[in-house]
Amino acid sequence: MKNYIKHDPWKIIEDKFNPDYNKISESICSLGNGKFGQRANFEESFSGKTLQGNYVSGVYYPDKTRVGWWKNGYPEYFAKMLNAPDWTGIKINIEGEELDLAKCKVENFSRVLDMKRGVLERKFTAETQSGKRLEVFSTRFLSIVRDENAAIKYTILPKNFSSKAEILSEVDADIKNEDSNYDEKFWTEIEKVSDENNTFVTAETKKTFFQVCTAIKTTLTNFSKAENILKEKYAAKKYTVQLTENQPFTVYKYAAVTSTMYYDKTEISKKTLEVLEKAFNDGFETLLKEQENAWEEKWRESDIIIDGDVAAQQGIHFNIFQLNQTYTGRDERLNIGPKGFTGEKYGGTTYWDTEAYCLPFYLATADKKVAHSLLVYRWKHLKKAIENAEKLGFTGGAALYPMVTANGEECHNEWEITFEEIHRNAAIANAVRIYIDYTGEKKYLADYGLEVLIGISRFWAQRVNWSADKEKYVMLGVTGPNEYENNVNNNWYTSYSAVQNLKYTIQAINFVKENYPQDFERIKKVCSFNESETEKWQDIIEKMYLGYDEKRKVFIQNDGFLDKELIPVSELDPKVRPINQHWSWDRILRSCYIKQADVLQGIYFFENNFDVETIKRNFEFYEQFTVHESSLSSCIHNILAAKVGLYDKAYQYYLNASRLDLDDYNNDTCDGCHITSMGGTWMTIVQGFGGMRIKDGMLSFKAVLPEKWNSYSFQIRHKDNVLKINVSKSGTQIERLEGSECQVIVDGKVIKV
Ligand code: BGC
Repeated sequence: MKNYIKHDPWKIIEDKFNPDYNKISESICSLGNGKFGQRANFEESFSGKTLQGNYVSGVYYPDKTRVGWWKNGYPEYFAKMLNAPDWTGIKINIEGEELDLAKCKVENFSRVLDMKRGVLERKFTAETQSGKRLEVFSTRFLSIVRDENAAIKYTILPKNFSSKAEILSEVDADIKNEDSNYDEKFWTEIEKVSDENNTFVTAETKKTFFQVCTAIKTTLTNFSKAENILKEKYAAKKYTVQLTENQPFTVYKYAAVTSTMYYDKTEISKKTLEVLEKAFNDGFETLLKEQENAWEEKWRESDIIIDGDVAAQQGIHFNIFQLNQTYTGRDERLNIGPKGFTGEKYGGTTYWDTEAYCLPFYLATADKKVAHSLLVYRWKHLKKAIENAEKLGFTGGAALYPMVTANGEECHNEWEITFEEIHRNAAIANAVRIYIDYTGEKKYLADYGLEVLIGISRFWAQRVNWSADKEKYVMLGVTGPNEYENNVNNNWYTSYSAVQNLKYTIQAINFVKENYPQDFERIKKVCSFNESETEKWQDIIEKMYLGYDEKRKVFIQNDGFLDKELIPVSELDPKVRPINQHWSWDRILRSCYIKQADVLQGIYFFENNFDVETIKRNFEFYEQFTVHESSLSSCIHNILAAKVGLYDKAYQYYLNASRLDLDDYNNDTCDGCHITSMGGTWMTIVQGFGGMRIKDGMLSFKAVLPEKWNSYSFQIRHKDNVLKINVSKSGTQIERLEGSECQVIVDGKVIKV
């Protein structure tokens, strides 16, 4: 755990030069606007620890799979969101000496991510090896209003010298992914220009042939000479300037970043230059004002205010900020990678995380179109999900959604996950239910949802088999969310979720048949669906084997779990934590330690089916063996702890979730931030402490106030209303900010708002 980020409600402040933590700060201070994003790399040269990172949404590369023992059914490739051309470079050379903080004496350094305004600011005083002192101030943002534009203002103030200098403003497309499987570069050059009017590079990905055009325009206080520089995959302008002691010298750099996701190859450079020209003509201050106003509006919709605990406030602001930077719902082809735009790990593509942890945030804080886009994304991938299942031997329209994907095709390639972590299907089906419960828009079933549900139900029906011994359906050879045990039989979470999916699909069929008969006929045709298929589904619902331990009165995570040596985590030597960095895989697999919520994840999803006593018993039993080595664990534990009255625990889980990256709890923020778990952090306040649920189509709250806080409030968009919920020592108050009179449930009583 680190503790070098200064606590502040709205700003992430690194107020000292910490070259050893640079990669962590680069992750934390990342910027994004839904279409592209980047790590907070320095503009000037830096020879210290850094991970250069620029990413363009939707642009991926199918990196050829690398495994030891090839198994039939493996995907051919792992899709990587590509590290894309870098437009940020402003290199400063003063009389032959390159400004590089790794080689200078650095004072008064600060890197500040201002979350209220969506702006990254940096300042420092540097003394070069020859003794030249200069101050630098930089301001950078990626516009959320014009989501193909970005801008930098970079000011140099010479403190003890006047001299000539060279300033290089560049676009560098000679970029490599750090995680490239075969050490390959994935970009080829299509066009590069640096002339009097334009500087840009159009680069193309190998194999997938996406093109990205990155164009820049630079203005400076003055210059005597401008040189156009072109190298392979690189275009820049080099200015010779006069720096004068104590006189600020400012560089404005404007960028446009576009891709063939949105423009045809024949016109991409022309369009990019137009987008750039418009931003350039409007100017830095106009763009900045727009950015500040747009973020003000975003915060109006999604802010959470905590009074009395600055660390907790900063944590939740950070999580909300990153979620809003990563996904805007404007494009149904895009999704939320576990690292968003903050690093390469996980390939930057889609996991079950989206449905299980991110959907509730977007549902409740943004226009319903945004959550709708997330759901339609999976509907569009249904055909591929059916193909994925076919590759594994399933038939008749059974759909297995991928564990990891960029385009619907599975690209994960560890057999115990690719073939066995099939619970991802459950989260995707369950997301349909969550969406409909929340919005009340059952028509979604007829338009999209039912087709997905049928595909998933068909999969479950083929994935189980009848056990003559148990006289029950069993589900063999699976991996639950607890990846620290593989190839288990009857993982309670997976089997229970499958039953719930089947039930919901049957209800959905009846609903669509009765209310949208024409759609029902269409769906029957499209899916070649025969209603008699539901007979087997019903049988599975009635006869699924779900392990239950009579002695402890808890659900059994999977067959054999109770045979393990059940030693609580509290008795583990802290030196062996995290166990995945200290123990052999063999030892982990045989241990009772649970990576992340598993049985508890199921209880969380289907909470209405369990009484509080059952939830508490299972919570207390499983929590003691859980090591939370996935960022997705704390949020579920917070919500259930709050539900059963274990408030101190709930608070601890909140802190773990919300400050995971800021304090680098898992020692891995250098790789990027845990973006998808940030949706879970939002849930800890709204569902955990706020106790928000949907009951009979109404919002229901049963709030608790953590002891350390004076009060907290959050905004919720529900149907046509925007409500502000304020929880203080005097109770829960609800204010309607938009919409018309509505009813909500507070502490079990229906009230009018
Ligand atoms: C978790 C998975 C998750 C993935 C991406 C893994 O460590 O165990 O549940 O989908 O990370 O966030």
